[in-house]
Formats: sequence, structure tokens, C-alpha cells
Amino acid sequence: MLIRRITCARALPLSIPMATSPLFSHLKPFSPSSSLPPRVPSSSRSFPFSSLASASPSKPSSKRANPPIAALVEVGGVKIAKDDVVRESDPTNNVPDNIFSKIGLQLHRRDNHPIGILKNAIYDYFDTSYSSKFVKFDDLCPIVSVQQNFDEVLVPADHVSRSYNDTYYINADTVLRCHTSAHQAELLRDGHSYFLVTGDVYRRDSIDSTHYPVFHQMEGVRVFSPDEWEGSGADATSYAAMDLKKCLEGLARHLFGAVEMRWVDTYFPFTNPSFELEIYFQERWMEVLGCGVTEQEILSRNGRKDCVAWAFGLGLERLAMVLFDIPDIRLFWSTDQRFTSQFSEGKLGVKFKPFSKFPPCYKDVSFWISDSFTENNLCEVVRGIAGDLAEEVKLIDNFTNKKGMTSHCYRIAFRSMERSLTDDEINQLQWNVREAVQNKLHVTLR
Ligand code: DAH
Repeated sequence: MLIRRITCARALPLSIPMATSPLFSHLKPFSPSSSLPPRVPSSSRSFPFSSLASASPSKPSSKRANPPIAALVEVGGVKIAKDDVVRESDPTNNVPDNIFSKIGLQLHRRDNHPIGILKNAIYDYFDTSYSSKFVKFDDLCPIVSVQQNFDEVLVPADHVSRSYNDTYYINADTVLRCHTSAHQAELLRDGHSYFLVTGDVYRRDSIDSTHYPVFHQMEGVRVFSPDEWEGSGADATSYAAMDLKKCLEGLARHLFGAVEMRWVDTYFPFTNPSFELEIYFQERWMEVLGCGVTEQEILSRNGRKDCVAWAFGLGLERLAMVLFDIPDIRLFWSTDQRFTSQFSEGKLGVKFKPFSKFPPCYKDVSFWISDSFTENNLCEVVRGIAGDLAEEVKLIDNFTNKKGMTSHCYRIAFRSMERSLTDDEINQLQWNVREAVQNKLHVTLR
């Protein structure tokens, strides 16, 4: 499983055995035009309420759901213009404004933010255990080629994670990285043998308290030369696997204390064998990371033919949510002082104290789906309109009638972490969602 997203309960395409994943049973070779999500007009993306005539004094301002967006951001010295990333007229582009607005925010580089605090705690572990040999990258541009994101880490050509339904494409050859593994090959080519890559990663996905289309990962790679395992009595792969397990068990203890752990065999395209590490924490088994012995092909293609290596990848939000008791993934993006002021540099595991609990408001929407309908596309539409006020989108009813038409009913939970929402505001949001669902997803409302 792992780290397709940060919860255990979901099918995780990059990490699920191809033979057993239900995601693969229906998989056709990838075809951009058939799986492209519907385009969303820019006017309704950034200003969801602007087309609505409402005289209500409590009419929500567009600012509240989706704040205005800068037109230019800078990451690692690279200037990224909004027009380069969000291109309405390009059918090979599926990046909405609200995703562009996250580029450059780099929560992992803020020492007083839970994500930055956790990154630094992991750095401390590696610095102490490996005399600061690991080179750290945390400012690599999240715009990468399809080659980097998929081909160079041996993701099969028909793998579901390559689809427009799962990944944000800037054009047919360029994506917002969906994992930090996208940087493995280039760093190996550059000759690095010990490295950590931390960064924001982007995935189209469902909406609930543990899923957000932008989150943060850390990747670690360690390369061994023959003299390191020769004479150990073990073959290269077993030697690397043993070292990997020892290293990551130490990391888990560093973060979680003296917890019970177990290793689970799994599949990743880039490692063989592949494992997940689980810990027994707060009375349940929790997946901490995915890892394995790097596929020889990756090493030999990148100038490390005679070497062996291990690699791991972990989702920082997933771990930060349990370490800091943060109940909803949207909170990481909050700029509310009542959230931000609770965390400070070097203080791992300070428990978050909820500062308000406003009730969620539920609204249902039912429609006859079309062949091209996907839940991820629905969630994109909902986020495009409600932004972070969308807390959850859940399928609550699903049936097919005698004519073969399939109906879905979704329950949308709207809730702000920071304030109470008015009835008018929610009705307006729901109205806009209904309108957009009908226009953009080619479904028929019931
Ligand atoms: N890239 C994987 C994901 O996003 C995580 C991962 C698993 C990275 C195993 C690795 C690895 O380097 O060896 O699901």
C-alpha cells in the first residue's frame, strides 16, 4: 500500500501489485483524449460566485472560498508563471487555479510548521546516524517531465497513475510531480550516493479528512559500492535490504518512540524486493513508509551499474497528523494564527488543540453518470468551487436502472475550520456545484 496517498484504506496505484489491484483489472492503455477531465472555465474556477446574481446581503464573496492567486511564483530559482501551468485552451492541461496557488508555498521549508518540524526531525536522525552524509534537497521544482515522474522510475506505460484522472498534466510531456521519486534518477546520474528529497507532490484524488490534492513527501536513497557488501557474507540485495530495514526501524523509533513494528511485502515499480513499514500506534497498525531495494535497471541506466541501493518514500502529512494530533489535512494550509501559533521549531509532537469546532453542513447531489464520469473529476469540480470549505465528498447511493442507466448520489460535507458558514453561503456553494457538475461532467442531474 502506502503512499499513493496518506491513508491505508485506499487503493494506492503506485504501490499496489499490478496483478491484484482492482485498478488494473479495467485498465486500458492510456489515451489522453478519452481520460481527460472536462475543462473548467476560468471564470468559474477562480471566482466561483461571480456569475451568480444574488441580492442577499450575506452573499459570500469569492475571496472566502478561493482567494485570489498570484500570477508568478518562484521555486528553487525557477520563475513559474500561472499561464505556463494553467492553460484553459490546451486540452492536454488539467491543472486548475487552486492547484497553481499551492506551488511555491513549500510548507516543508517552514521551521515552525508541523510539516517543516517533521522534516527537520527526520534530517536530525539521518545527520546523527550517518555523520551528515545525506545530501538534502528540498527546493527542487515540482514541474517535471513525464520521463522523470514515470519512465525513469520504471512506472509501466499503462499504469493507472499516469492517467489524466490521477495526475496533473501541464501538457502531454510535463506534469506536477506526483511523488518525490521523480528526482531519483537525475540525482543518481549526478553521482549522489546518499540523498534525501523533500517536496510538495500533486495528485488528483477524492475529498476527505486525509486527502488533499497537494501534500508532501520525503524520498531517501542510499547507494552501496561492491566493497561495502563484499566480505559481509551476504549477497548485494540482502545486504541492502538488511541495512534499509535497520535504518528505517531506527527512524520510526526516533519519531514514535519504542513502538512495535512489522514489515509487509508489497510492490513498487522502482524497487525489488519492496516493503512497507508499519508501526503499532494508538491501538492500530499504521503504515509509515514504503521502501525497497532499487531496481538494478535504474542504477545501470544512471551510471551505477555495479552498485546496489535502497530507497524509501514517506508521506509527511500522514505522519504529522498522528504525531501532532491534527484531525483534518486542510489544517496544514491554514494561515489562521490559532493554528500556526501552536507549533514551533524543533518541537515534534506538540498536540494540536482544536480552536473551534463548527458543525459540518451536508448537501446531496444525485445524477445519472456518463461513461466518462469519474469521482476524481467530481472532486476537482467541488474543490474548484468550494475550495477548502469542501470537507468530504462521499458516494452514498449507487444503482443501475432497467435501462442500464447508473445513478450516483454524493453527500458533500461543507465545513470551515475557522468560522461558521451561513445557510446562504452553503446554498450558494451547492447551487454552483450542481450547475458545474451538470455543465462540466456531462451528467444529468436528478
Ligand atoms: N513513490 C512512492 C509513492 O509515492 C513511495 C516510495 C515507495 C518511494 C518506495 C520509494 C520507494 O523510493 O522505494 O507511493
